[in-house]
Amino acid sequence: MLKKIQVEDLVIGMYVHEICASWMDNPFWKKSFRLSNEKDLRTFHEYRINEVWIDTSKGLDVSFKAKTVSLEEEKQQINETLEQIAVEEHKIQRRVPLHDEIARFKKVMPEIKRGVISIFDDVRDGNPVDIDLVSKMVDDISFSNDRNPDAMLTMVRQKSANDYNYMHSIAVSGLMMALGKELDLDRGTIKEVGVAGLLLDIGKVKIPKEIINKAGKLTNQEFDKIKTHPLLGFETLKLSNDLSDIVLDVCLHHHERIDGNGYPHRLAGDNIGYYARMASICDVYDAISSTRSYQASWEPAESLRKMTEWKKGQFDEKMFGSFVKAVGIYPSGTLVKLKSGRLAVVMEQSEASLLKPIVKVFFSVHSHAHIYPELLDLSTSPDSIVTREEPKQWGFDLKKISQT
Ligand SMILES: [Fe+2]
Ligand SMILES: [Fe+2]
Repeated sequence: MLKKIQVEDLVIGMYVHEICASWMDNPFWKKSFRLSNEKDLRTFHEYRINEVWIDTSKGLDVSFKAKTVSLEEEKQQINETLEQIAVEEHKIQRRVPLHDEIARFKKVMPEIKRGVISIFDDVRDGNPVDIDLVSKMVDDISFSNDRNPDAMLTMVRQKSANDYNYMHSIAVSGLMMALGKELDLDRGTIKEVGVAGLLLDIGKVKIPKEIINKAGKLTNQEFDKIKTHPLLGFETLKLSNDLSDIVLDVCLHHHERIDGNGYPHRLAGDNIGYYARMASICDVYDAISSTRSYQASWEPAESLRKMTEWKKGQFDEKMFGSFVKAVGIYPSGTLVKLKSGRLAVVMEQSEASLLKPIVKVFFSVHSHAHIYPELLDLSTSPDSIVTREEPKQWGFDLKKISQT
């Protein structure tokens, strides 16, 4: 049985099913493991992890006095939060059909990627950031976002584990601008948050590649080294006089967390700048929904649900609500089951309702067979989403289905 418990109630002999925080906030490599030594237990406290899910069928249970949350209670709470967000007004606008914008963006994508690689290489070689190049790339990402935000989100999800560091920068830049729009920022500021998203992890080029790409458990020392990247990035960016305070602050503070358990300065609540609070949400979302060499990803909808679960201590809750509105309750790439008994993949959000996206139906649950793929706008169809489905259980390659 799964129970969510406080880390102060965690003891050796328990089976940790999942840590309630992003993998990038702690040095644990595996999602699930039996807690067998003092050193690992201490690491939970050192890295200020607040809550974990334990599996009592595989390890010790908590004492009856401990505060616990069941899976059912947690699910209900997440559903209530997301339903609440879904009825609020959102600002999603699609000016161009998804298919058209994906076709266009595919052509500019290699150039954007080459640009990011060259900026990161420059900084690695000790040169300053090429501001003109950054500005051009952010304009390209922003142009696509304005035409149809789901195109870029679909494309950057296709990143392979090798591509992760560069594609992550492009994704965070796009997510920052999408969130900026939902938050009603002016155009100039939206561009600044786009630049900030592109450059926030630039400090990682100063950390040995063997640590950044290590396919295994990081030692606490190695993890502490990774934690220096916001400061290293900030110092590098400071050398370029043309970068705004927004860009500098986002770089320095994108790993701060609302409860004060982030790094490097353990800022809490409103002491974390507004744009850095935006960045922490966009950064975690892309990180946990991307496959890395050693870390399998969660599906977009599952990633959102995880973040809804963690949001209290980690993110600005109101801003997180805006983020959900920007990417959708069922973000593009989500597998859903419809009332009609068909399975569909979410292609893009509809302007009418976050609960009624545009989907591509491709499989009949009744006949257990593929059907002719067809686009369906749920905001104008009598059909509707019944549940979200786990792609791994069905064995579908959703990325391929979305593309055809
Ligand atoms: Fe980072
Ligand atoms: Fe990051």
